[in-house]
Amino acid sequence: MEFTTDIFKQFDKKWALLTAGNKDSFNTMTISWGGLGTLWGKPVATVYVRTSRYTHEFMDREDYFTISFYPEDKKEILGILGSKSGRDMDKMNESGLTARELPQSMTFSEAEVTIVCRKLYKQRLKIENIPDDIVKSLYESDAPHDMYIGEVVEII
Ligand SMILES: Cc1cc2nc3c(=O)[nH]c(=O)nc-3n(C[C@H](O)[C@H](O)[C@H](O)COP(=O)(O)O)c2cc1C
Repeated sequence: MEFTTDIFKQFDKKWALLTAGNKDSFNTMTISWGGLGTLWGKPVATVYVRTSRYTHEFMDREDYFTISFYPEDKKEILGILGSKSGRDMDKMNESGLTARELPQSMTFSEAEVTIVCRKLYKQRLKIENIPDDIVKSLYESDAPHDMYIGEVVEII
C-alpha cells in the first residue's frame, strides 16, 4: 500500500468523494476535510460528516467506506455532488461518473486513487470543546459533525 502526497493540499485543495454503501444502495458526497495518519498501530483515514447529510445514514449503516480523488477536470462534478443531496438528486445517474463496485464498498471508475476504509470509530465533535470563533462560523446554524476513523485496508 503506497500513497505519497502533500496531505495539507490533498483534501483541502483537491477535494474527494466520500462514498458508502453497496451497488444497490449507496451515496456519495464531496469532502474537503479529512486526514491520513496512524491510530492503534494501523494506517487510518479520518473524515467529518455533518449529521444532516444523506451520506451520514450510509456511514452509520456500513462497515466500510471509500475516499476517492479525481483529476482536475472532474472538479465541476465534485462541486455538484457537494452542493446537492442524494435525497433530492439521482447522484449516480446525473453526475456522469461511473459507479464501480468493490468487494467491500463502492467507488467510481474515474477516480485516480481510492482509499478503502474499514470503519473503526465514530464520535460526535462536542460543541463545548470547539473554540468560540469556529462555533460561531460553522455550528450556530448548522448540524454537528461526526468524526469517522477508518482503517485503510486498500489503496487502489
Ligand atoms: C468542496 C466541498 C467540501 C465539502 N466538505 C464536506 C465535509 O468535509 N463534510 C461534510 O459534512 N460536508 C462537506 N461538504 C458538503 C457536502 O458535500 C454536501 O452537503 C452534499 O450535498 C451532501 O450530500 P448528501 O446529502 O447526498 O450526503 C462539502 C462540499 C463541498 C463543495
